[in-house]
Amino acid sequence: MVPSGSSGKCAVITGASRGIGFAAAQRFLSAGYRVINLSRSPVDLAGMTNIQADLSAPDWARTAEQPLLDAVGDAETLALVHNSAFNIPAPVQAVQAADFRHAFEVGVIAPSVLNQLLLERMRPGSSIIYIGSTLSQRSTKGMAAYTSVKHALLGLMRATCQDLAGKGVHTCCVCPGFTDTEMLRAYGGEALTHLAGLSTQNRLIAPTEIAEVIFFGAANPVVNGAALNADLGFIEP
Ligand SMILES: NC(=O)c1ccc[n+]([C@@H]2O[C@H](COP(=O)([O-])OP(=O)(O)OC[C@H]3O[C@@H](n4cnc5c(N)ncnc54)[C@H](OP(=O)(O)O)[C@@H]3O)[C@@H](O)[C@H]2O)c1
Repeated sequence: MVPSGSSGKCAVITGASRGIGFAAAQRFLSAGYRVINLSRSPVDLAGMTNIQADLSAPDWARTAEQPLLDAVGDAETLALVHNSAFNIPAPVQAVQAADFRHAFEVGVIAPSVLNQLLLERMRPGSSIIYIGSTLSQRSTKGMAAYTSVKHALLGLMRATCQDLAGKGVHTCCVCPGFTDTEMLRAYGGEALTHLAGLSTQNRLIAPTEIAEVIFFGAANPVVNGAALNADLGFIEP
């Protein structure tokens, strides 16, 4: 049963506790959406509902399903943003099977499960936005699991576009370049300067810039099926 009293526009964002997801939450809130965050750590942001979920845990969907459906309610349109992911720097020769599975659980399987939980609540005008990476379409040394997850996510977006044809629900994959978040800062100062220098604008991307592209994707059905590169332009070697 769909609870009443919770209509209007709604965004469900995984990993809105920090970084790109947090910036996306702020962007949707500024446009009058209710925002629901699914992550392990809650965040205090007016207008945001936190549902604690470790998307790598086997039973996360069983625990989160009812609170999520209650919070979504009878939304007039729903934007579902698959943003949670983490980086496992390891090459093909050394990547551990357990790490590979963990990365796929959070980065690919959880989006698929969430789609199935929420599709019934997605009225025409709703959207499913996948957060890929430049590594959805290329690779670099030492990023075997991350590259695989991000390629798979682009594939899932393309499958979503085909399977939801005629439903009025659109999808796209936003592919950020080097963005100034905790994930990237883990590489340390010198590496960050190097990474910034790989862009034609010699700087890192602000999370708010990616949030703007995510919001654009959600608001514009014409992008259905597209990979939206948001990387400031890489300098070709
Ligand atoms: N930063 C970049 O340069 C860059 C470039 C290309 C693509 N991206 C992509 O952009 C997205 C956001 O990245 P970011 O840079 O903002 O990273 P971040 O600052 O590290 O944030 C990652 C988010 O994912 C959530 N998350 C991680 N593991 C989770 C789990 N097991 N269950 C639930 N949530 C989990 C975290 O929430 P909790 O820790 O609270 O659970 C956090 O909110 C990712 O998909 C990333 O691959 C980033």
